[in-house]
Amino acid sequence: MTATGTGSANAKVLLFGEHSVVFGKPAIALGLHAGVTATARSESPCALRVPNWNLDLSRNDDHPVARALDALLSSLGIDDIACEVDAHIPAGAGLGSSAALAVAVARAALAAHNRADNNDVAAAAMASERVFHGNPSGLDHTVAMTGGLLRFVRGNPPHVQQLGTGAPFSLVVAQVAAGASTAVQVSEFARRIAGLGATGSRLLDCFEQIVDQAIPALERADLGELGLLFDANHGLLAGLGMSTAALDVACQKARNAGAYGAKLTGAGGGGCVIALADADSAEVICDTLRTCSISSFIVHHAAPAGL
Ligand code: PMV
Repeated sequence: MTATGTGSANAKVLLFGEHSVVFGKPAIALGLHAGVTATARSESPCALRVPNWNLDLSRNDDHPVARALDALLSSLGIDDIACEVDAHIPAGAGLGSSAALAVAVARAALAAHNRADNNDVAAAAMASERVFHGNPSGLDHTVAMTGGLLRFVRGNPPHVQQLGTGAPFSLVVAQVAAGASTAVQVSEFARRIAGLGATGSRLLDCFEQIVDQAIPALERADLGELGLLFDANHGLLAGLGMSTAALDVACQKARNAGAYGAKLTGAGGGGCVIALADADSAEVICDTLRTCSISSFIVHHAAPAGL
């Protein structure tokens, strides 16, 4: 008899610490309410359909997503799943789409087999992410599983801490260009850090100091200071070759339209920028970016009660 199961997962934006997180430095990420939902049926042959991303694949196809599905199902020890996925985020834009897909599919596949185990989901998502990233920190699938605003340090298990904020803030998430390959970006960042020797290590320490300073600034909801930290983090990433002219221009347009600060988010080389704003200026920033043919959406992060 065919059994079915469903699973869902969040997309994310990286506020601070992308790339340096691969080297064991802390990062701060925010889970988005949008993400993906998967419905799995226990039937052979294994297949995956994601209509919004124009994907219709079998497990053995010569396609990176098929190889990721194969790694995920091998990790779970499951070989009879056909999955239909509803995706509400763009693929390959630095919003953690591959991790959200992996977590949702793993949850759905387990549910179709009357199983539910977060360790199994995390291990399967990591196996899937290795296909795309080569050397993933594990941050993307961790946020895909937990959501929320969190500080993450890679490890086995990773160190994950939910963070508080003193007041609401808004982020404008602007999709500037198609994303580059995360694996290529990660290896280019590593090449540049290695090439800089001791200075490379000190630059990694700078990324860590930005995260360390951002946590109390988030607790105080000091948007002015957080904006400066956004700009500084972007400057470091740009100096290490992770930005593009289009991302830099989008950041500057957002700052000129009233953002406290702006930076690329995720692997860079394309994809999205995020701009820190209050609720009113977020609308103005979106309108300004729209006049430059850049589509964007606003994420309002509410301060948890009691903080
Ligand atoms: O662009 P994305 O969503 O693939 O984010 C990658 C985040 C990196 O820090 C660049 C890589 C990683 O494994 O953490």
